[in-house]
Amino acid sequence: MELFSQAEPYRIKVVEPLKLTTKSQRADILRKAHYNIFNIPAEDVFVDLLTDSGTSAMSQYQWAGMMTGDESYAGCRNWFHLEEVVREITGYPYVLPTHQGRPAENILMMLHLQPGFSALGNMFFDTTHAHVVHKGGIPHDLVIDEGLDTTAEHPFKGNIDLEKLETFIRKEGREKVGLIHITVTCNNNGGQPVSMENLRGVRAIADKYGLPFYLDAARFAENAYFIKQREPGYENKSVKDIAREMFSYADGCTMSSKKDGLVNIGGFLALKDEQKYRQAQQLLILLEGFVTYGGMAGRDLEALAIGLQEVLDEPYLASRIRQVHLLGNMLLEAGVPALRPIGGHCVMLDMKRFLPHIPQEQYPAEAFTAELYLDSGTRGCGLGQLAFGCEDPQSGEIHYSPLEVVRLAIPRRVYTDNHIRHVAKSVIDLYERRQELKGMRLVWAPPGLRHFTAHLQPLD
Ligand code: F0G
Repeated sequence: MELFSQAEPYRIKVVEPLKLTTKSQRADILRKAHYNIFNIPAEDVFVDLLTDSGTSAMSQYQWAGMMTGDESYAGCRNWFHLEEVVREITGYPYVLPTHQGRPAENILMMLHLQPGFSALGNMFFDTTHAHVVHKGGIPHDLVIDEGLDTTAEHPFKGNIDLEKLETFIRKEGREKVGLIHITVTCNNNGGQPVSMENLRGVRAIADKYGLPFYLDAARFAENAYFIKQREPGYENKSVKDIAREMFSYADGCTMSSKKDGLVNIGGFLALKDEQKYRQAQQLLILLEGFVTYGGMAGRDLEALAIGLQEVLDEPYLASRIRQVHLLGNMLLEAGVPALRPIGGHCVMLDMKRFLPHIPQEQYPAEAFTAELYLDSGTRGCGLGQLAFGCEDPQSGEIHYSPLEVVRLAIPRRVYTDNHIRHVAKSVIDLYERRQELKGMRLVWAPPGLRHFTAHLQPLD
């Protein structure tokens, strides 16, 4: 019997009861939240697919490890454990702990960028993009064209276009480029993997022009798993060896441990270069904390050291990806326009095809997330016009977001397949009665990052 890829390789010892709400209660909750799902108290959500970040369930070994937390200011034993594990997994000798991914990005961009410098990547995650801009840099997303086509089938839609990358460096001049930063898997287009061949190609270009090349490793284990499944020559290698090879091509990585660290908080920056490490240490002390805790408690360092090893367990990865694909495939089979192929941590729904009768200036992604919550208590995340577009208050001119999607991100080791079926049924029901859905009107919004706090109102 093939147990390996079917059942979860763990059983449940502690449960967290979920509150059941009625549709009329949810209608009330939505109204009070001004139809913005970010404003809904988490307790009123039945299946929370807002993010896979910091939402993992920890194992008995991680919880037990937390009891061994050494809360000394300097040199706590959990730090040495974490350092050893990160060195072993990445091969990078220099490790700096941070409280999550973005401080690691902040420090990395300070090391490599000056005003006017470009940062080149497949697709920069929002916070990385913001840290580049914050240093006066200019981020450029150079993902392959298939990566932006919601219907194109390609095994590695997270790949950077090597030709675009080299042309950019030649045209702009090597001295105007600060660094290359590749996100594995690529979050912005739905957790799409990057191939080993592509990483090797980036290394060759980085060497040719003498440029530093880093990974955003938030979902490194899921990326390594896809390489094993899809890239010829890797089928018989362990995911751990594949991950190590991925890291070997880069000069270091930033890490949000809230994803493939299987913890609720944490991150790190790891480097090959000693001089850069010395500089980074000074910034770490200034921004996060002493070099052996960097904004984390000793117990959290321990949970991370253990989580980083557990995430490379192949039966775990198989069941994790299988669950994400269970949701994606149920939706695709029902004709729901989900981004193809299904990625590593989420299913993305294309609202331009799901709700073509709602124009982008009426926020179809938010219209959908509100209706999904009302229907089944499920929380997804709208990533479209409200998040990335804008309307000029003076001229009334509208700048459109290229993508209008809803992300259903699956937390790790948290929900059962029955929760997934509950969500799938609700999305399919909504798809069948999509003509009834109406757009939204913006009632209030701050000038920037408006999707987090905006107030909306359904149109009559
Ligand atoms: N890089 C990637 C690829 C991410 O997905 C995130 C966070 C970060 C960096 C920043 O890390 O949150 O620990 O500071 N992504 C979350 C998400 C927020 O929902 O996708 P952080």
